[in-house]
Amino acid sequence: MDLIIREARADDAAAVLGVLNPIIESEAVAFDAPLTESDERGYIAGFPSRGVFHVALRRGDGLLVGFQSLEPFATYTSLFDHVGVLGTYVDAACRRQQVASRLFAATFAAARVKGYEKLFTYIREDNPPALAAYAGQGFRVVGRAERHLKVDGRYVAEVIVERFL
Ligand SMILES: CC(C)(COP(=O)(O)OP(=O)(O)OC[C@H]1O[C@@H](n2cnc3c(N)ncnc32)[C@H](O)[C@@H]1OP(=O)(O)O)[C@@H](O)C(=O)NCCC(=O)NCCS
Repeated sequence: MDLIIREARADDAAAVLGVLNPIIESEAVAFDAPLTESDERGYIAGFPSRGVFHVALRRGDGLLVGFQSLEPFATYTSLFDHVGVLGTYVDAACRRQQVASRLFAATFAAARVKGYEKLFTYIREDNPPALAAYAGQGFRVVGRAERHLKVDGRYVAEVIVERFL
């Protein structure tokens, strides 16, 4: 798919939720309720200046088909300034067309410019597509947090992955 990757703007909020809310409703992610446009608009507007928030737009019609956010691991201390935490979401109708791969490439480049040296995230163990996508980008499994989510009374572990830039 031919894509334009650019930084997110507050006005992208509705389109971002057009991707994210259906994923929240039906996939193994760490949200339990849909987000509102006002939540998302505020989230993008208040996004940390050291963060990276990219959207992927289909060239031609401009449809937002995916997005990826990278936030500082912690802000209460400078000791983690080189570590960023990632989240990646692609419209179910546009998967396996390298949308996430393009977002990873853009985010890795922007993260290096912002001084990050390492990327880190948690992936539910019942989410094999995400585990495969991150493994394909060079992330390695460095841990497993047992009983980390409780989904409708059922415990789910999270797999911890990291990649050096
Ligand atoms: C994980 C996710 C972002 C991948 O997006 P995508 O655009 O389909 O990924 P890409 O097309 O760039 O895939 C790159 C590679 O990852 C691997 N991969 C991606 N999805 C896969 C799947 N369902 N099964 C196996 N491998 C998969 C493959 O190696 C793939 O390369 P290939 O298609 O040439 O074989 C997408 O499935 C998604 O949005 N899932 C829901 C949200 C989520 O779980 N996010 C992760 C937690 S933050």
